[in-house]
Amino acid sequence: MAVVLEKLQQETYPIVKWVGGKRQLMFELLKNMPKSHNRYFEPFIGGGALFFELQPENAYISDMNEELINLYSVVRDNVYELISDLNKHEISKEYFLEIRNLDRTSEYKNLSNVQRASRFIYLNRTCFNGLYRVNSQGQFNVPFGNYKNPRIVDENNLLNCSELLKNTEIKCADFSEILTKVKKGDFVYFDPPYVPLNETSSFTSYTKDGFDMDMQFKLREVCDELDSMGVMFMLSNSDTKFVNELYSNYEIKKVFASRAVNANAEGRGKITEVLVRNY
Ligand SMILES: C[S@@+](CC[C@H](N)C(=O)[O-])C[C@H]1O[C@@H](n2cnc3c(N)ncnc32)[C@H](O)[C@@H]1O
Repeated sequence: MAVVLEKLQQETYPIVKWVGGKRQLMFELLKNMPKSHNRYFEPFIGGGALFFELQPENAYISDMNEELINLYSVVRDNVYELISDLNKHEISKEYFLEIRNLDRTSEYKNLSNVQRASRFIYLNRTCFNGLYRVNSQGQFNVPFGNYKNPRIVDENNLLNCSELLKNTEIKCADFSEILTKVKKGDFVYFDPPYVPLNETSSFTSYTKDGFDMDMQFKLREVCDELDSMGVMFMLSNSDTKFVNELYSNYEIKKVFASRAVNANAEGRGKITEVLVRNY
């Protein structure tokens, strides 16, 4: 019983909901991990579903989203202040808009890192679908989600995550920076923005998150480099002709994921994704 309790108390969950979250693929991801490895790297951390599941002892996580990286750093370094700030929030549309619109005022630059992280969690729990979207001026613009009882403060989980993050290097950086950090025997999990299922549209020259075809090529080059260094990698992406050709030198496994393909309900269903591995 004591063992079960201890285990429960140490369970960690992702701190934020994130588009592209990997929870529905967890079984496949775990099954396809290498048998053993040295340091764990996740350079598109997002909500970090695999990272929080694995709870690696010594890891490196990074992302280009500065607010998200600030959140993980605050959870690691100032978790008690964060919990106390989170307790101040109210659930109403008026209050949501007030907090959301802070980044449209001169006040925003005076917020502390803890206040920014607290705002980030609050917006993530109360906005529509937990989306993260900013306009061209970098202002958060997702509407109120109208949830009955969103949980803003999950104190136990934040404390567990804080402990886990204590041994983690956290960086706001482009994925390619891992090349300066990895060593033979390390393991990298890549979960990049996916190649669109419909490859025509704007993918060849532009995507709204900046992850166009050139970036997908650059990512493959990073994988080639890792492979030549004796670093193991696993990568998720959509099951498209482009992705299958791009990684044809590696082992490609098709896996099923149920996820929203389109914003409308009809677009939801089981689709295949790929897991690429070099081991
Ligand atoms: C598909 S999401 C990752 C989802 C995550 N695995 C999860 O379970 O929630 C992709 C992430 O890549 C980040 N990103 C986009 N371009 C990047 C780049 N050039 N370098 C590093 N991260 C980037 C985005 O901010 C986003 O958080």
